[in-house]
Amino acid sequence: MGLDRKKFKEIKAAFTLSDDTLHRIADDFRAEMHAGLAHKNGASLRMLRTFAGLPTGRETGTFLALDFGGTNVRALRIRLDGSGKYKVESKVAKPLTLPGVYDYVCADATAEEMFDFLAEIIDEAIEGDHETKYLLGHTFSFPSEQTNLCNARLITWTKEFATQGVEGKVVNDLLEDALMRRGMKNVVPVAVINDTVAVLLAAAYKREHTYIGSIYATGQNTCYFENFADGSEKPMVVNMESGGFNRLPFSKYDDAIDACSEQPGAQRLEKMVSGRYLGMLYGTALADLLGKEGASYPFTSIELSAIVADAFLDRHAAGAIIESKTGMTFSAADRALMQDLAGTVIQRSAHIVAATYAGIIRHRAGETKAENQFIAVDGSVYEKVPLVAHHLRGALDKLLLDEAVNIQIILENAGSALGAALAAAMTEQN
Ligand code: GLC
Repeated sequence: MGLDRKKFKEIKAAFTLSDDTLHRIADDFRAEMHAGLAHKNGASLRMLRTFAGLPTGRETGTFLALDFGGTNVRALRIRLDGSGKYKVESKVAKPLTLPGVYDYVCADATAEEMFDFLAEIIDEAIEGDHETKYLLGHTFSFPSEQTNLCNARLITWTKEFATQGVEGKVVNDLLEDALMRRGMKNVVPVAVINDTVAVLLAAAYKREHTYIGSIYATGQNTCYFENFADGSEKPMVVNMESGGFNRLPFSKYDDAIDACSEQPGAQRLEKMVSGRYLGMLYGTALADLLGKEGASYPFTSIELSAIVADAFLDRHAAGAIIESKTGMTFSAADRALMQDLAGTVIQRSAHIVAATYAGIIRHRAGETKAENQFIAVDGSVYEKVPLVAHHLRGALDKLLLDEAVNIQIILENAGSALGAALAAAMTEQN
């Protein structure tokens, strides 16, 4: 007996957003940007001030970069040569969790353990040199309240991070303390930026007319350069924490994923689009299709990608992955349907992200015509999940059809580290 086709259609429809719905999401997103900028109560976009401007492209010198917030933590020594050029002189990367050995992001880990680990990695990147003075830029990919470029207080963990004693603390102080404990007085943390800001700075270092930086990976978030055209504040990059946007058409699968997450109610957009959740969403929808409503098969987004990427008629590779999770076997026709469903989950993700970009472009344009520009994007979902870039492009074109504007989406995959080095360099010019 094959899959229930009617059920399949229903589930697919639950993940399909019409053009009208996408336009509405873009408009609501823009409205929410205004609410967030004005600090309106209940606004789901935090619109965090970052105190970062855009680089001139002329930044030079050698700086340290710490990139923290994804699966791996990295420390790098980077030489900036100006004109968009740079060289990575050394690089150390380690996972934050090594099963059976350590786990710095679980609820049992403490801030001190985590930051000592970071200091150790920085120490490796400078080969134990405790003499040469280095300015360090820290890409810290979580919502932080800043009072200047350096002082960043973690508001709340996202992406299922749970280390104790970090929320509510100034992360730069925690890092400085750990560097002191290790005798690394020569390393001076001078800037803390979100990863989206890092992507924007890195891309803007290389090309003018880049005003939007976005991460589309384990988490999903976007920042942009806000002009504050009314003169109320100094123009600066604003970290929207757009993963928190919540004026969205949730399906019952989204509600299920949210309910069993670390922080129910939070990061609703992120839970519909980012790599941390896509495989889970698919697993939940698939369970429903197979008559096991309420269950979820644990697909990773890498497996989800492999399912979508299978281009052979019999969908053998896709089927093998699904069969290994479900313990069931399927006909080639049913395997094709299940692949189709995976593609739909991915397409919805890209369409929602495109709607947020359209909202930002319209916001920046205000009453005038939108400017030709680049959007810089980094992240494994954008880079590696099949068809994401294609659907993102397609939806953005549709959403901005009336604007007759040239928007190029560029991959900026050196962003997190290069941006941190640039942020450190930019403190020298001020
Ligand atoms: C989460 C974080 C955000 C970060 C994004 C991408 O959404 O809250 O700060 O930019 O993940 O890493």
